[in-house]
Amino acid sequence: MRLEYPHRTERFGAVRIRNLQRVIEIDSGPDRGDDVASDLGAVQYVPVSRLREIEADLAIVVPCKNETPKVIEGVLSGIPHDCLIILVSNSDRAPVDVYAEEVEVLEQFCRVSQRPALAVHQRDPGLAAAVKAAGMPDLVGEDGLVRNGKGEAMLVGTALAALSDRRYIGYVDADNYVPGAVTEYCKAYAAGLYLAGGPFSMVRICWGSKPKLRDGRMFFSRWGRSSEVVNQFLNRIVGEYSGFGTDVIATGNSGEHALTLDLAVRLRTAGGFAVEPFHFIDLFEQFGGLLDTPHADVLSSSVDVVQIESRNPHFHDDKGTEHVQGMRTQALNALFHSPICPPSVRDAIREFLEAEQAIPPGTRPPAERIYPPVATMALDIFYDELVAEAASFRQMLRREIVGVRGDAPIRRPDLMSSRSDAPLDA
Ligand code: GDD
Repeated sequence: MRLEYPHRTERFGAVRIRNLQRVIEIDSGPDRGDDVASDLGAVQYVPVSRLREIEADLAIVVPCKNETPKVIEGVLSGIPHDCLIILVSNSDRAPVDVYAEEVEVLEQFCRVSQRPALAVHQRDPGLAAAVKAAGMPDLVGEDGLVRNGKGEAMLVGTALAALSDRRYIGYVDADNYVPGAVTEYCKAYAAGLYLAGGPFSMVRICWGSKPKLRDGRMFFSRWGRSSEVVNQFLNRIVGEYSGFGTDVIATGNSGEHALTLDLAVRLRTAGGFAVEPFHFIDLFEQFGGLLDTPHADVLSSSVDVVQIESRNPHFHDDKGTEHVQGMRTQALNALFHSPICPPSVRDAIREFLEAEQAIPPGTRPPAERIYPPVATMALDIFYDELVAEAASFRQMLRREIVGVRGDAPIRRPDLMSSRSDAPLDA
């Protein structure tokens, strides 16, 4: 893959945010012999062998709530072969068991493509029991089940990825109509993680465009209705501290992003759709040097945020204006309540939400739920409880030859319970 060179980097303590890099070539040909990513001045080039190495170490979490099976199948087909797929579904179980249909799609896909996967249903009582036993009781709601929400699904996916032996994690929405876009996002994750190089890195995708039908013709809008606003407020926060206005953050809402697992398990997770912008906030809170941090080790190095603009348009299910407004409000609520949000930005957020009629005049925005890092979970207990209690939990093995057992998605010997000899994908 060949990318534009990131000529500008903004620092926020140990966090280094590189400006948006456009994909120049998705496929930049065979390795040229020098075998390392090269920096050719105006461009950065990552050899295909390096992309493949990262992909083999990458788990891709697919959060899914009642998306069309055909679309899900397309998304799966776009995820590079060596990535581990982790489906976390919150789809209906009744009157029709949509999750069962999704598992069937995933199983068939894994069988024919000979690859491993994990799947679990977010509202499985066994998952709630596992999460609680592992020390994350906040994730469980009053009804005794894991709470609804995309952020909650991503947290579960991160815990599952931490059980695997992968070193990187990425997230891809299940409602993407274009499998080729999914492939490009995953390749961009691999390229960005490779170029960032360090143990604490994050790659965030900014879609090249978002196509919409307008007056009978296709219009490729540049920014989403939520991203535009959320980016602006995040940039104001960065600018207030540096004393220089900036537009460096172009991916505040990025649903498509990837991290080193070392970083992913240290970050806290915001519930619902506050999850993506809260990534930036938590980076600033934990690694910005303003607040106390348990990660002095990380502060002494750096946390790199690479932002990549895809060539593919993001063509997905449009869930309507109210949905977008809700998403934007959740994001701004999370920014507002951060201890690092300067008072002037807080006032501006409140004014914006009042003007949008998202909050009554003179009130404070509600706080979003913030969950502790996955690193605080007892993952061995999580795994054992999951296998014992969660009826919806599936491990699909890589079968090299039909009928012959191959790789298991979870291979950490310290986590393999006595049940690991059982046919896990039965
Ligand atoms: N498991 C699970 N649980 N999945 C969920 C849930 C949930 O409660 N809610 C939504 N999802 C899944 C959807 O099925 C979809 O695959 C993905 O999460 C994104 O949800 P959408 O409702 O389709 O969000 P969107 O497409 O409007 O917004 C996307 O883009 C934004 C950037 O513009 C999301 O990725 C946002 O998080 C992102 O900020």
